[in-house]
Amino acid sequence: MEFLKLSEMRYSVRKYSARPVEKEKIEAILKAASLAPTGCNNQPQRILVVDAPEILEKIRKCTTCQFGAPVTFVICYDKDACWVNPEGNGIGVTDASIVTAYMQLEAAELGLGTCWVAYFDAAKLVKELKIPKNFKPVALLPLGYAADDAKPAHLHFERRPAEEFTWKNHF
Ligand SMILES: Cc1cc2nc3c(=O)[nH]c(=O)nc-3n(C[C@H](O)[C@H](O)[C@H](O)COP(=O)(O)O)c2cc1C
Repeated sequence: MEFLKLSEMRYSVRKYSARPVEKEKIEAILKAASLAPTGCNNQPQRILVVDAPEILEKIRKCTTCQFGAPVTFVICYDKDACWVNPEGNGIGVTDASIVTAYMQLEAAELGLGTCWVAYFDAAKLVKELKIPKNFKPVALLPLGYAADDAKPAHLHFERRPAEEFTWKNHF
């Protein structure tokens, strides 16, 4: 699909059908995750793919935003693997965020819904899912087919025109 059209049709899906997600589609989304640019190409993303009901239940204990999706990605970065800028700041959050955005767009291209979720208890998630201590969770990404009556929330349509957030040559 043409990129701007794809970007426009993607929306945060907050109601999912029980229809399982095909293995090849999950693989394609993970391929998109591998194609995302990262600082110095360090590729510090570490992604847990969850489809087991009992592990999804553990995730639901850590967030109200799992939305009953049949699959959830837990997108982390390895703090020992990410590039560190000259100010001494690791850029893992940036890398994991770009990866997540690529995954969302590939999922949309495949007719699947996602919702980026930052609203979760990270300490509890680390404990529940036994996430290794050098892996930092950045986003949860529920994935699945949208329910028949799912629709975009009103915020989806509230887009600022570029003139409101751009300046030319100087501020
Ligand atoms: C960094 C980030 C964090 C977000 N966290 C949540 C969240 O915790 N729960 C949720 O329901 N939506 C969350 N969203 C989805 C946004 O609310 C949504 O993308 C925005 O309102 C635009 O709507 P749209 O995605 O439908 O176009 C998040 C999005 C981003 C990019």
